[in-house]
Amino acid sequence: MSVAFARLRRLIGSLAGISLDADKLYFAQSRLEPIMRAHGCFDLAQLMRLIEKREDESLLQRVIDAMTNNETSFFRDRVPFEKLKQEWLPDLMARRAATRRLRIWSAACSTGQEAYSIAMALEESEPDLEDWTVEILATDISEAALEAARRGVYSQFEAQRGLSTARLLRHLHPHKRHWRVSDALQARVAFRKVNLLSDFRGAGPFDVIFCRNVLMYFEPEVKRDVLTRLFGVLAEDGFLILGAAETMEFDERFAPSASGDCRVLPRRFAPRRRLANG
Ligand SMILES: C[S@@+](CC[C@H](N)C(=O)[O-])C[C@H]1O[C@@H](n2cnc3c(N)ncnc32)[C@H](O)[C@@H]1O
Repeated sequence: MSVAFARLRRLIGSLAGISLDADKLYFAQSRLEPIMRAHGCFDLAQLMRLIEKREDESLLQRVIDAMTNNETSFFRDRVPFEKLKQEWLPDLMARRAATRRLRIWSAACSTGQEAYSIAMALEESEPDLEDWTVEILATDISEAALEAARRGVYSQFEAQRGLSTARLLRHLHPHKRHWRVSDALQARVAFRKVNLLSDFRGAGPFDVIFCRNVLMYFEPEVKRDVLTRLFGVLAEDGFLILGAAETMEFDERFAPSASGDCRVLPRRFAPRRRLANG
């Protein structure tokens, strides 16, 4: 492995928690190629020297943007959104009747489809949430992804991935040969930059947390740490939803209850405090 690539792996690991496989040099180079060209760097070593000077923080952000995988779609894996609508929301609404407030977090929201799918599920929810205050916070480490999420404009291909025609026509409208989410939907979601490695205690508590298809990029100890802190901002009776492919095999106390093709960890599965502290 080249020294420059080893430095890149350390950097991405320490800044974003992302574990970049040792055989991903060509993948990294192709992702970073436009940045190298823009900065007149001939190779990765030159780019790393430039990054390490830390003279331009936006360069670092562009590198993180390039190295994150933003793959997502509307209603990805379908089941979590069905369950949200049919089980978790009615359940939480019964228990929050006094305050009529709910808080939902889409952590690692990428280009916004997950958060907008949650917002659509809320709009379609029975009983309806009209006189409820429901906050949807959607966060990601990638500024490029967040910018796209805030715009809420999707290509025909992106819009069709996961949206039925009925949903497409109800929640989005045509926009310069693309589709744009409705103002109502956009108003429901607040997008912010949050690195899951950072201290996000101030953001909680949440009734539902979607943290899907991101922990799988982290080293086990980073995964464990993030998961422990997610439980720290989850309401006692809240739900934490992981991606279908995400397992917490390294510690049976994290064992999720498999639920269709999503992983749901109700609060009672929270790790013991002993683990949270170390
Ligand atoms: C594959 S996408 C998953 C999007 C969505 N949750 C889904 O399941 O469709 C993973 C997202 O995690 C984000 N991400 C990676 N490392 C992160 C970190 N340390 N903090 C916050 N977000 C991160 C990436 O920028 C990317 O948008």
